[in-house]
Amino acid sequence: MAAIILDGSELAKQNRIEMKKQVSQMIEKGVTPGLAVVLVGENPASQIYVNTKKKMCGRVGINSYEYLLDESVSEQELVDLIVNLNEDDNVDGILVQLPLPKHINENRILDTISPLKDVDGFNPVSVGRLVTGADCYLPCTPAGIIELIKLSGVSIKGKNCVVLGRSNIVGKPVSFLLLREHGTVTICHSRTVDIRSIAKNADILVAAIGIPHFVTDDMVKEGAVVIDVGINRMEDGSVTGDVDFDNVKEKAYAITPVPGGVGPMTITMLLRNTIKSALRRMD
Ligand code: GUN
Repeated sequence: MAAIILDGSELAKQNRIEMKKQVSQMIEKGVTPGLAVVLVGENPASQIYVNTKKKMCGRVGINSYEYLLDESVSEQELVDLIVNLNEDDNVDGILVQLPLPKHINENRILDTISPLKDVDGFNPVSVGRLVTGADCYLPCTPAGIIELIKLSGVSIKGKNCVVLGRSNIVGKPVSFLLLREHGTVTICHSRTVDIRSIAKNADILVAAIGIPHFVTDDMVKEGAVVIDVGINRMEDGSVTGDVDFDNVKEKAYAITPVPGGVGPMTITMLLRNTIKSALRRMD
Protein backbone atom coordinates (compact mmCIF):
# COMPACT_ATOMS: atom_id res chain seq x y z
CA MET A 1 0.00 0.00 0.00
CA ALA A 2 1.31 3.44 -0.87
CA ALA A 3 2.43 5.64 2.00
CA ILE A 4 0.68 8.58 3.63
CA ILE A 5 2.28 11.71 2.18
CA LEU A 6 3.12 14.11 5.02
CA ASP A 7 2.18 17.44 3.48
CA GLY A 8 4.43 20.03 5.13
CA SER A 9 3.10 22.86 2.96
CA GLU A 10 -0.46 22.26 4.15
CA LEU A 11 0.53 21.84 7.81
CA ALA A 12 2.60 25.04 7.59
CA LYS A 13 -0.38 26.89 6.10
CA GLN A 14 -2.66 25.77 8.93
CA ASN A 15 -0.04 26.81 11.49
CA ARG A 16 0.23 30.24 9.87
CA ILE A 17 -3.53 30.78 10.19
CA GLU A 18 -3.24 30.19 13.96
CA MET A 19 -0.13 32.34 14.26
CA LYS A 20 -1.72 35.20 12.31
CA LYS A 21 -4.58 35.30 14.83
CA GLN A 22 -2.13 35.24 17.72
CA VAL A 23 -0.01 38.02 16.20
CA SER A 24 -3.09 40.21 15.58
CA GLN A 25 -3.98 39.94 19.27
CA MET A 26 -0.41 40.88 20.20
CA ILE A 27 -0.47 43.88 17.85
CA GLU A 28 -3.74 45.07 19.46
CA LYS A 29 -1.86 45.09 22.75
CA GLY A 30 0.98 47.12 21.24
CA VAL A 31 3.55 44.37 20.54
CA THR A 32 4.48 43.53 16.94
CA PRO A 33 6.93 40.62 16.83
CA GLY A 34 10.11 41.45 14.91
CA LEU A 35 12.70 39.22 13.23
CA ALA A 36 16.11 40.47 12.06
CA VAL A 37 17.43 38.46 9.12
CA VAL A 38 21.14 38.80 8.36
CA LEU A 39 22.57 37.56 5.07
CA VAL A 40 26.24 37.87 4.19
CA GLY A 41 27.23 37.56 0.53
CA GLU A 42 25.25 36.33 -2.46
CA ASN A 43 24.83 32.59 -2.09
CA PRO A 44 21.77 31.96 -4.36
CA ALA A 45 20.27 29.22 -2.13
CA SER A 46 20.63 31.46 0.96
CA GLN A 47 19.01 34.35 -0.92
CA ILE A 48 15.98 32.15 -1.69
CA TYR A 49 15.71 30.98 1.96
CA VAL A 50 15.98 34.52 3.31
CA ASN A 51 13.36 35.86 0.89
CA THR A 52 10.97 33.06 1.80
CA LYS A 53 11.48 33.71 5.52
CA LYS A 54 10.73 37.41 4.99
CA LYS A 55 7.63 36.65 2.93
CA MET A 56 6.23 34.26 5.56
CA CYS A 57 6.88 36.81 8.33
CA GLY A 58 4.76 39.27 6.35
CA ARG A 59 1.94 36.73 5.95
CA VAL A 60 1.49 36.32 9.71
CA GLY A 61 2.11 39.98 10.59
CA ILE A 62 5.67 39.70 11.95
CA ASN A 63 7.96 42.63 11.11
CA SER A 64 11.14 41.55 9.35
CA TYR A 65 14.28 43.65 9.25
CA GLU A 66 16.73 42.66 6.55
CA TYR A 67 20.49 43.18 6.75
CA LEU A 68 22.21 42.33 3.45
CA LEU A 69 25.97 42.57 3.97
CA ASP A 70 28.73 42.43 1.43
CA GLU A 71 30.76 39.21 1.25
CA SER A 72 33.79 41.25 2.37
CA VAL A 73 32.26 42.38 5.69
CA SER A 74 34.65 41.82 8.59
CA GLU A 75 33.91 39.47 11.46
CA GLN A 76 34.04 42.43 13.87
CA GLU A 77 31.49 44.42 11.83
CA LEU A 78 29.13 41.46 11.93
CA VAL A 79 29.65 41.06 15.69
CA ASP A 80 28.91 44.79 16.16
CA LEU A 81 25.68 44.49 14.18
CA ILE A 82 24.53 41.55 16.29
CA VAL A 83 25.37 43.38 19.53
CA ASN A 84 23.14 46.25 18.32
CA LEU A 85 20.33 43.85 17.41
CA ASN A 86 20.62 42.19 20.84
CA GLU A 87 19.85 45.60 22.36
CA ASP A 88 17.12 46.63 19.89
CA ASP A 89 13.71 46.36 21.57
CA ASN A 90 11.90 46.01 18.23
CA VAL A 91 13.87 42.85 17.43
CA ASP A 92 12.66 39.67 19.12
CA GLY A 93 14.59 37.19 17.00
CA ILE A 94 17.94 37.25 15.22
CA LEU A 95 18.70 34.93 12.35
CA VAL A 96 22.11 34.84 10.70
CA GLN A 97 21.79 32.76 7.56
CA LEU A 98 24.43 30.04 7.29
CA PRO A 99 26.88 29.27 5.79
CA LEU A 100 29.01 32.38 6.37
CA PRO A 101 32.05 33.27 4.25
CA LYS A 102 35.23 31.41 5.25
CA HIS A 103 36.97 34.45 6.81
CA ILE A 104 34.23 34.71 9.46
CA ASN A 105 34.32 32.44 12.51
CA GLU A 106 30.81 31.01 12.61
CA ASN A 107 31.07 29.95 16.26
CA ARG A 108 31.97 33.48 17.36
CA ILE A 109 28.94 34.86 15.51
CA LEU A 110 26.54 32.28 16.97
CA ASP A 111 28.04 32.95 20.43
CA THR A 112 27.26 36.65 20.05
CA ILE A 113 23.52 36.19 19.44
CA SER A 114 21.71 36.65 22.75
CA PRO A 115 20.15 33.33 23.85
CA LEU A 116 16.95 35.36 24.49
CA LYS A 117 16.74 36.15 20.75
CA ASP A 118 18.28 32.96 19.36
CA VAL A 119 15.23 31.86 17.35
CA ASP A 120 17.39 29.50 15.24
CA GLY A 121 18.54 27.68 18.39
CA PHE A 122 22.21 27.59 17.29
CA ASN A 123 23.81 29.47 20.22
CA PRO A 124 25.74 27.05 22.49
CA VAL A 125 23.49 28.02 25.43
CA SER A 126 20.41 27.02 23.41
CA VAL A 127 22.09 23.78 22.33
CA GLY A 128 22.98 22.98 25.96
CA ARG A 129 19.43 23.66 27.07
CA LEU A 130 18.11 21.39 24.33
CA VAL A 131 20.42 18.56 25.39
CA THR A 132 19.58 18.87 29.10
CA GLY A 133 15.84 19.14 28.42
CA ALA A 134 15.43 22.75 29.62
CA ASP A 135 13.01 25.21 28.04
CA CYS A 136 14.63 26.73 24.93
CA TYR A 137 14.02 27.79 21.36
CA LEU A 138 13.91 24.54 19.46
CA PRO A 139 16.08 24.54 16.32
CA CYS A 140 13.70 25.05 13.41
CA THR A 141 14.32 22.13 11.06
CA PRO A 142 14.48 19.52 13.87
CA ALA A 143 11.31 20.94 15.47
CA GLY A 144 9.56 20.81 12.07
CA ILE A 145 10.61 17.17 11.68
CA ILE A 146 9.02 16.25 15.02
CA GLU A 147 5.77 17.98 13.98
CA LEU A 148 5.71 15.98 10.73
CA ILE A 149 6.29 12.68 12.57
CA LYS A 150 3.41 13.61 14.90
CA LEU A 151 1.25 14.34 11.84
CA SER A 152 1.77 10.72 10.75
CA GLY A 153 0.07 9.63 13.98
CA VAL A 154 3.03 7.38 14.85
CA SER A 155 4.29 7.72 18.42
CA ILE A 156 8.06 8.24 18.77
CA LYS A 157 8.12 6.68 22.25
CA GLY A 158 10.19 3.49 22.32
CA LYS A 159 10.70 3.45 18.53
CA ASN A 160 13.98 2.76 16.76
CA CYS A 161 14.90 6.14 15.28
CA VAL A 162 17.79 6.31 12.84
CA VAL A 163 19.22 9.68 11.81
CA LEU A 164 21.45 9.82 8.75
CA GLY A 165 23.78 12.81 9.16
CA ARG A 166 25.47 14.50 12.14
CA SER A 167 25.39 18.21 11.24
CA ASN A 168 24.95 20.86 13.91
CA ILE A 169 21.91 22.22 12.06
CA VAL A 170 19.94 18.97 11.67
CA GLY A 171 21.51 15.61 12.54
CA LYS A 172 22.67 16.29 16.10
CA PRO A 173 19.74 18.43 17.29
CA VAL A 174 17.04 16.22 15.77
CA SER A 175 18.64 13.23 17.52
CA PHE A 176 18.27 14.97 20.88
CA LEU A 177 14.68 15.95 20.11
CA LEU A 178 13.84 12.34 19.23
CA LEU A 179 15.48 11.29 22.49
CA ARG A 180 13.37 13.87 24.35
CA GLU A 181 10.33 12.18 22.79
CA HIS A 182 11.58 8.86 24.22
CA GLY A 183 12.86 7.38 20.96
CA THR A 184 15.87 5.03 20.85
CA VAL A 185 18.24 6.94 18.61
CA THR A 186 21.12 5.87 16.36
CA ILE A 187 23.11 8.50 14.46
CA CYS A 188 24.82 7.35 11.24
CA HIS A 189 27.42 9.38 9.34
CA SER A 190 30.03 9.11 6.63
CA ARG A 191 32.28 6.80 8.71
CA THR A 192 29.48 4.48 9.84
CA VAL A 193 30.03 0.87 8.82
CA ASP A 194 26.99 -0.65 7.08
CA ILE A 195 24.50 2.22 7.14
CA ARG A 196 22.12 0.08 5.10
CA SER A 197 21.48 -2.55 7.73
CA ILE A 198 21.13 0.07 10.48
CA ALA A 199 18.67 2.11 8.39
CA LYS A 200 16.68 -1.04 7.66
CA ASN A 201 15.98 -1.41 11.40
CA ALA A 202 14.46 2.06 11.67
CA ASP A 203 10.83 2.58 12.59
CA ILE A 204 11.51 6.27 12.01
CA LEU A 205 14.20 7.20 9.48
CA VAL A 206 15.45 10.79 9.12
CA ALA A 207 17.68 11.43 6.11
CA ALA A 208 19.86 14.57 6.32
CA ILE A 209 23.03 13.80 4.40
CA GLY A 210 22.75 15.85 1.23
CA ILE A 211 23.13 13.02 -1.28
CA PRO A 212 20.29 12.79 -3.83
CA HIS A 213 18.30 9.54 -3.62
CA PHE A 214 20.74 7.98 -1.12
CA VAL A 215 17.94 6.15 0.68
CA THR A 216 16.64 3.40 -1.58
CA ASP A 217 13.72 1.07 -0.87
CA ASP A 218 15.99 -1.83 0.12
CA MET A 219 17.25 0.31 3.06
CA VAL A 220 13.77 0.92 4.45
CA LYS A 221 11.75 -1.28 6.79
CA GLU A 222 8.19 -2.05 5.70
CA GLY A 223 5.87 0.43 7.48
CA ALA A 224 8.56 2.94 8.52
CA VAL A 225 8.06 6.69 8.78
CA VAL A 226 10.58 8.35 6.43
CA ILE A 227 11.51 12.02 6.80
CA ASP A 228 13.55 13.53 3.96
CA VAL A 229 15.54 16.65 4.94
CA GLY A 230 17.60 16.77 1.72
CA ILE A 231 17.41 19.78 -0.56
CA ASN A 232 19.65 18.82 -3.48
CA ARG A 233 19.67 21.06 -6.51
CA MET A 234 20.03 18.99 -9.68
CA GLU A 235 21.69 20.03 -12.95
CA ASP A 236 18.30 20.70 -14.57
CA GLY A 237 17.49 23.18 -11.77
CA SER A 238 14.99 20.89 -10.01
CA VAL A 239 15.22 20.13 -6.30
CA THR A 240 15.29 16.58 -5.00
CA GLY A 241 15.63 14.93 -1.62
CA ASP A 242 17.94 12.34 -0.04
CA VAL A 243 15.27 9.65 -0.49
CA ASP A 244 14.28 7.76 -3.62
CA PHE A 245 10.70 8.91 -3.07
CA ASP A 246 8.93 6.98 -5.86
CA ASN A 247 10.17 3.57 -4.70
CA VAL A 248 10.34 4.20 -0.95
CA LYS A 249 6.74 5.44 -0.83
CA GLU A 250 5.59 1.94 -1.81
CA LYS A 251 7.17 0.54 1.33
CA ALA A 252 6.89 3.25 3.97
CA TYR A 253 3.88 3.92 6.18
CA ALA A 254 4.40 7.67 5.83
CA ILE A 255 6.89 9.83 3.93
CA THR A 256 7.65 13.52 3.38
CA PRO A 257 7.95 14.87 -0.18
CA VAL A 258 10.69 17.23 -1.41
CA PRO A 259 9.79 19.99 -1.98
CA GLY A 260 6.75 20.55 0.26
CA GLY A 261 7.77 18.46 3.28
CA VAL A 262 10.31 19.58 5.86
CA GLY A 263 11.20 22.94 4.20
CA PRO A 264 7.92 24.78 4.87
CA MET A 265 7.87 23.46 8.44
CA THR A 266 11.34 24.87 9.12
CA ILE A 267 10.05 28.36 8.40
CA THR A 268 6.91 27.78 10.46
CA MET A 269 9.03 26.91 13.49
CA LEU A 270 11.09 30.07 12.98
CA LEU A 271 7.90 32.15 13.07
CA ARG A 272 6.75 30.27 16.16
CA ASN A 273 10.04 30.96 17.96
CA THR A 274 9.88 34.65 17.03
CA ILE A 275 6.37 34.91 18.47
CA LYS A 276 7.50 33.06 21.60
CA SER A 277 10.29 35.58 22.06
CA ALA A 278 7.94 38.55 21.52
CA LEU A 279 5.59 37.19 24.19
CA ARG A 280 8.33 38.13 26.72
CA ARG A 281 7.53 41.77 25.97
CA MET A 282 3.91 41.28 27.04
CA ASP A 283 4.64 40.19 30.63
N1 GUN B 1 21.30 27.36 6.58
C1 GUN B 1 20.69 26.19 6.28
N2 GUN B 1 19.66 25.98 7.12
C2 GUN B 1 19.62 27.03 7.96
C3 GUN B 1 18.79 27.40 9.05
O1 GUN B 1 17.85 26.69 9.44
N3 GUN B 1 19.09 28.58 9.66
C4 GUN B 1 20.12 29.36 9.26
N4 GUN B 1 20.33 30.48 9.94
N5 GUN B 1 20.91 29.06 8.26
C5 GUN B 1 20.66 27.90 7.62
